[in-house]
Amino acid sequence: MPIKKLLVAFSITTALLLSSVVKAQNNNPIIVQVNKPIAAVQPTMWGVFFEDINLGADGGIYAELVKNRSFEFYKPLMGWTVNQPKFNEGSVLIINRQETNIANPRFVRITKEVAADTLGITNEGFRGMGIKKGLRYDFSVMYRQQTAGLILHAELVSMVGKIIGTASLTPSAATGATWAKAAVSFNATDSSLRGKLNIWFEGTGKIDLDMISLFPEDTWKKRPGGMRADMIQLLADMKPGFIRFPGGCVVEGFDLGLRYQWKKTLGPVEDRQLIINRWNSEFAHRPTPDYFQTFGLGFFEYFQLAEDIGASPLPILNAGMACQFNSAEVVPIDQLDPYVQDALDLIEFANGNVNTQWGKVRAAMGHPAPFNLKMMGVGNENWGPQYLERLKIFSKAIKARYPDFKLVNSSGTDPNGERFDYLNGELRKMNADIIDEHYYRRPEWFLANAARYDNYPRNSSRIFAGEYAAQSDHTVSIENRNNAETAIAEAAFMTGLERNAAVVSMASYAPLFAHIDGWQWTPDLIWVNNLQSYGTPNYYVQKLYSTNKGTDVVLALMDGKAVTGQDSLYISSVIDKNTSDVIIKVVNASGNAINKMITITGAKKLSAAATVNTLKSSSVLDVNSFATPNAVSPVASTMPLKGNKLIASLPAHSFTIYRIAMK
Ligand code: AHR
Repeated sequence: MPIKKLLVAFSITTALLLSSVVKAQNNNPIIVQVNKPIAAVQPTMWGVFFEDINLGADGGIYAELVKNRSFEFYKPLMGWTVNQPKFNEGSVLIINRQETNIANPRFVRITKEVAADTLGITNEGFRGMGIKKGLRYDFSVMYRQQTAGLILHAELVSMVGKIIGTASLTPSAATGATWAKAAVSFNATDSSLRGKLNIWFEGTGKIDLDMISLFPEDTWKKRPGGMRADMIQLLADMKPGFIRFPGGCVVEGFDLGLRYQWKKTLGPVEDRQLIINRWNSEFAHRPTPDYFQTFGLGFFEYFQLAEDIGASPLPILNAGMACQFNSAEVVPIDQLDPYVQDALDLIEFANGNVNTQWGKVRAAMGHPAPFNLKMMGVGNENWGPQYLERLKIFSKAIKARYPDFKLVNSSGTDPNGERFDYLNGELRKMNADIIDEHYYRRPEWFLANAARYDNYPRNSSRIFAGEYAAQSDHTVSIENRNNAETAIAEAAFMTGLERNAAVVSMASYAPLFAHIDGWQWTPDLIWVNNLQSYGTPNYYVQKLYSTNKGTDVVLALMDGKAVTGQDSLYISSVIDKNTSDVIIKVVNASGNAINKMITITGAKKLSAAATVNTLKSSSVLDVNSFATPNAVSPVASTMPLKGNKLIASLPAHSFTIYRIAMK
């Protein structure tokens, strides 16, 4: 074709295309009506769900670098190696004083008789120790001298065997039955992603050691023995409305002996009795034999964390039932009292004045002011009549003492099916305050269920979307990826949660954290190694929602109907009465870019431009990584308004938030 004809043909096609775009803009505009709020958005709406899974606590947010610091793992020297070229029987001995110390029975006894001999122990850390050049490290031990004389030399070693930090510790020579603490700090001279700690013994003597510990200086809020700041910062940045803890299945345990017992997680860390983590051996395809819950991070620390990040605390307690996927062990009804008492005592621990039994414990740990606990979950993923029978006893006792306290009840493991229907019906008959629904489903399910709550009863129980995550493969598959497709599907589903804030009062993605070298479950919101952490595309979706929460839902309609998948669009809108903004969330789940006109009605005044945040990617398979942590993350821009109209320019597979000032 001659070039002239080609150009004519090209301009005709372009004109046709443009006119169809303009049509798309003007046909079926979205009408957002800002002066008639239809429901309040609860301050708790978007929160986080923390569980000690995937090395979430030990080896994760708990910044302790020494694994098995108290020699209580079922193999007492797990994580440790003994260094002695010339073997001496009994020079490194584990002693078990079970009769006198149930919480922390074991310690190590070091005996060295020949000064010239080499003797040391090495700790490998949790998949190594993350060491940062120039940072201060605090090394400490509890000790008891048998025969004074040994000097301890702590030594940090990098992955390539370079010594990158040293310190010496000469414990007091006083001998006796009581334990003392000795500590020394030193700076690292280099960084290492997987370092280790050597402790060499100089001289001769016999010493008992326990709670051998190493913490970095740069913990969250610089608290000694505290949490990993980069991981907590990612949570704080989300401004979550609540934090649910400590799980998840760890609440239940494989059996009741291994359930989470909050009272055992308080007080001095050396008195907190560790247990095996139920994720240790849950999956044969992801065994983690060195996974324990040491409870260095316990309920006091969780409450403190909630306060730090401005989130309402939401503890979940065991309902007298072990994990029903595992043993399904239940406590007999006539022996349920201690479990119920734990729930009542927890409220006193969090809120009671300092003269109450448990308020006093909180004050002694450094927090005389109450933690303002308003809700609690009874049971995680429990089901069947056995659950309801127990739940009723808890509810009666808690409501009798604290009538306004809200209880979260489990609706089992799935968002549909016989178990769900039974529980859903029965819980509503019981007037449950809040029903916890979980959905681990494929992205298509999330898209198809954006209208799930549109017909839920308004004057009945509220919903807590307590655990959800789109699975790119299938639940518990190791192939699941936190890719753009899953994030966009969740964003679409969340428009349905937001539109239905009249019934949905809380929602949280699960699980929250995963260590790249120690995970059991994927997908997860935030991935970490020993030094770095990054948010997945799903993290950015959660953050966009929680930092654009608003105060009241307003209607956003197309052809007079909520937008729940028509033309692959999903839309919800809120106003923020505090800032006088209207916030419009739009998901384009299709593979094509779409231009859509949005008309805002009912506002006296609107700003000339919207601030826009768009999450998109070139492929739905795109993921973030340590190398490219922001590959799929929001990009900010502005978009002019024409009067009360805005042309939303929606890339393929995207999530866009428009924020427009109304004053
Ligand atoms: O989030 C991982 C697990 O999924 C939780 O522990 C449990 O509640 C659910 O089955």
